[in-house]
Amino acid sequence: MTRLILFLLLMSSLSASLFAQDEPQDLLPADFHLGRREALRKLLPPKGVAVFFANPVRNRSNDVDYLYHQDPDFYYLTGYQEPNAMLILFADEQTDDKGNKYTELFFAQSRDPLRERWDGKRLGPEGVKSKLGIANTFDHKEFKDKKIDFAAFDKVLFFDFKNDVRDAGGEADLYDLIQQFRDKAGIPSNYNGARETMYAQLREVTEENYKQVAESVFARYGRNPGMRNDEHLQAFIKAGSGKEAKKIVAKIPALPKNLDASSLGGKMGQLRMVKSDAELKLLRKAVDVSCQGQVEVMKAMHPAMSEMEIRGIHEFVFRRYGSEYEGYPSIVGSGHNSCVLHYVENNRQRVSTDLVLMDLGAEYHGYTADITRTIPADGTFSEEQKAIYNIVLEAQEAAFKVCKPGTAMRETTRICREIADKRLAELGLIKPGAQHEYFPHGVSHHIGLDVHDRSTGAPMAEGMVITVEPGIYIPPNSPCDPKWWGIGVRIEDDVLITKDGYELLSKSAPRTVEEIEKMMAQPSPLDAFLLPNLDKKN
Ligand code: GLY
Ligand code: MN
Ligand code: MN
Repeated sequence: MTRLILFLLLMSSLSASLFAQDEPQDLLPADFHLGRREALRKLLPPKGVAVFFANPVRNRSNDVDYLYHQDPDFYYLTGYQEPNAMLILFADEQTDDKGNKYTELFFAQSRDPLRERWDGKRLGPEGVKSKLGIANTFDHKEFKDKKIDFAAFDKVLFFDFKNDVRDAGGEADLYDLIQQFRDKAGIPSNYNGARETMYAQLREVTEENYKQVAESVFARYGRNPGMRNDEHLQAFIKAGSGKEAKKIVAKIPALPKNLDASSLGGKMGQLRMVKSDAELKLLRKAVDVSCQGQVEVMKAMHPAMSEMEIRGIHEFVFRRYGSEYEGYPSIVGSGHNSCVLHYVENNRQRVSTDLVLMDLGAEYHGYTADITRTIPADGTFSEEQKAIYNIVLEAQEAAFKVCKPGTAMRETTRICREIADKRLAELGLIKPGAQHEYFPHGVSHHIGLDVHDRSTGAPMAEGMVITVEPGIYIPPNSPCDPKWWGIGVRIEDDVLITKDGYELLSKSAPRTVEEIEKMMAQPSPLDAFLLPNLDKKN
């Protein structure tokens, strides 16, 4: 019997290690996440505690959910990829009833053989301890009875709750964990973090400045659904005097003073906007894979192709390299569709001889590229297409030159707009100095675990990875010669800020007119991949 047990134990550990080798071996190590938690703890105020929740499971239709994707902040701090979990980080060391010291608590969803048979394996608390190295991990069902006196902390930091969390029926799913946290911390069910931040500003109001404060409330309150109908804010805006305004403020119900749903975002931005070597390795891979996808699309492209097929080719390539997701819904827009900035329908059946704008980014182990190439479907730029393309390229080249530590993030936009304005006027598309809508977006944002990654808005610094993405879009019926209509060009590259300049991470995707035309003339392995016409009648 003992031998049998030993044999079974040996087999199960053997199969566990065999399966372990099947999984990607280049995920961020547990040390990375531990280091990030320690770095965040240092940014917390004294006597502070920060609470994080995993992303909700989102329903697609009936009993099918969207593919689960972890909340990037939660992933950054833990490496955990499952739902129904929470993390609590304490600024100061805590001591439990038994004298044990700790600075963090993690609550993971339970193992469940039946559910795992259907939905795949779970780490469970033990797996979190051994694989992710988070020692103080408990089953999420234990949070309910865990004694944590949130009132004893000077600051309880958390992200405002998402309003798409469903009660899935379990005992300790995300819905329950949030509810239990609310009960413990004294957060009412109609809590709205943005509104509370505004209330806090109102409480500071003086009889002299109430008018300015009212104006700022008026400018901001309408945008937030939780504030639009708020009786206190509405009354404040209408107050006839400073005295009356103060009376209105006094009626706003007071919540526990230590709640803070507004400052975690900035702290996470401070950490996440500068990438470590371990992150850069994954980000480089996401970028390389995405560039190779663009190369394969360039070789395979022909006028009879559909936008969806182009998206599919890119996706096939990035999955061949082990990327799990699109970092954002792919944008493949030809002709007039290229003028819609975030066009995601991708449903035009033939790209014809138009320009095809392809904004495609693979996500590799959480990190996403963000790369756009715009190419002529038939392999050759027309004169008009080339003219607009080269303006965007010139703008991008000029913006690259200021990519270095110390440059303000908005500087790339200023430079690109200046060049676009000048050149568009020379081409007669606009009058010199005229306002126009052909360049409607900014040029740079951070990338990382999010395609629009967290940041504080600070100037460029070594280790940041940003996009440089000027674009000119001339939709049909624009006030210019119709020969320009339907031309939309964006060129988007991913740039690592280095000690004294930048490195163009996405340089392997052809970018100039000559490079693109040359690549498009190359044969593609997909030329020989012919499928039968399924619409043909027998
Ligand atoms: N792909 C979205 C963007 O370029 O910002
Ligand atoms: Mn972008
Ligand atoms: Mn993009």
